[in-house]
Amino acid sequence: MGLVQWGLLLGCLGCGILLGVQAQFPRVCMTLDGVLNKECCPPLGPEPANICGSQEGRGQCTEVQTDTRPWSGPYVLRNQDDREQWPRKFFNRTCKCTGNFAGYNCGGCKFGWTGPNCDQKKPPVLRRNIHSLTPQEREQFLTALDLAKKSVHPDYVITTQHWLGLLGPNGTQPQIANCSIYDFFVWLHYYSVRDTLLGGFSPLT
Ligand SMILES: *[C@@H]1O[C@H](CO)[C@@H](O)[C@H](O)[C@H]1NC(C)=O
Ligand SMILES: *[C@@H]1O[C@H](CO)[C@@H](O)[C@H](O)[C@H]1NC(C)=O
Ligand SMILES: *[C@@H]1O[C@H](CO)[C@@H](O)[C@H](O)[C@H]1NC(C)=O
Repeated sequence: MGLVQWGLLLGCLGCGILLGVQAQFPRVCMTLDGVLNKECCPPLGPEPANICGSQEGRGQCTEVQTDTRPWSGPYVLRNQDDREQWPRKFFNRTCKCTGNFAGYNCGGCKFGWTGPNCDQKKPPVLRRNIHSLTPQEREQFLTALDLAKKSVHPDYVITTQHWLGLLGPNGTQPQIANCSIYDFFVWLHYYSVRDTLLGGFSPLT
């Protein structure tokens, strides 16, 4: 998952929930081939062989490891929810980044790090009370929020179907939609905490 400005959503989670959509993935991975092969290992930059920034030692395309412990308890709806063994219902190979590199193509830095090699600590930012901002600061904050709500997310799209219907009725068209940067954060929160996701055939969707 890319590390974008988490701060943007502070205080307004739940304002713009998109009902009916299912999950979020890097735009470049949502091709027919990508979905069929279950591989999300995009190249970093224009060189196609530089997958996961491997030529700069930033990362490698590896199998996604998830918890292998057996199911427990009375849960009987196994192997249905999109989020089980996340993200293996969708992708079983993704970039694994080394050191402080991060992001779906290892093109970014882990939270709190910056610089071309992601080895410089970012100066800490102070969380502020909106009521203590100057009028100019408040204006700046609200402008950024407004821009986030109006800008299509450059890197992530959301799927509009449960994993079983991800390629549409013909099995050839990834079912995806754009979302704004703001809605992306709202969606992440909603998707991770919502009730069981069982697809269109179930009353529990
Ligand atoms: C990953 O998914 C692909 C496509 O479904 C499948 O062919 C492959 O065997 C899977 N790999 C593993 C390790 O599960
Ligand atoms: C399915 O394929 C047909 C024929 O190629 C095409 O006309 C139609 O638009 C496709 N439908 C979807 C939902 O992709
Ligand atoms: C999403 O937005 C991008 C950039 O604005 C545009 O090129 C693309 O056609 C849009 N895709 C969909 C599915 O709406």
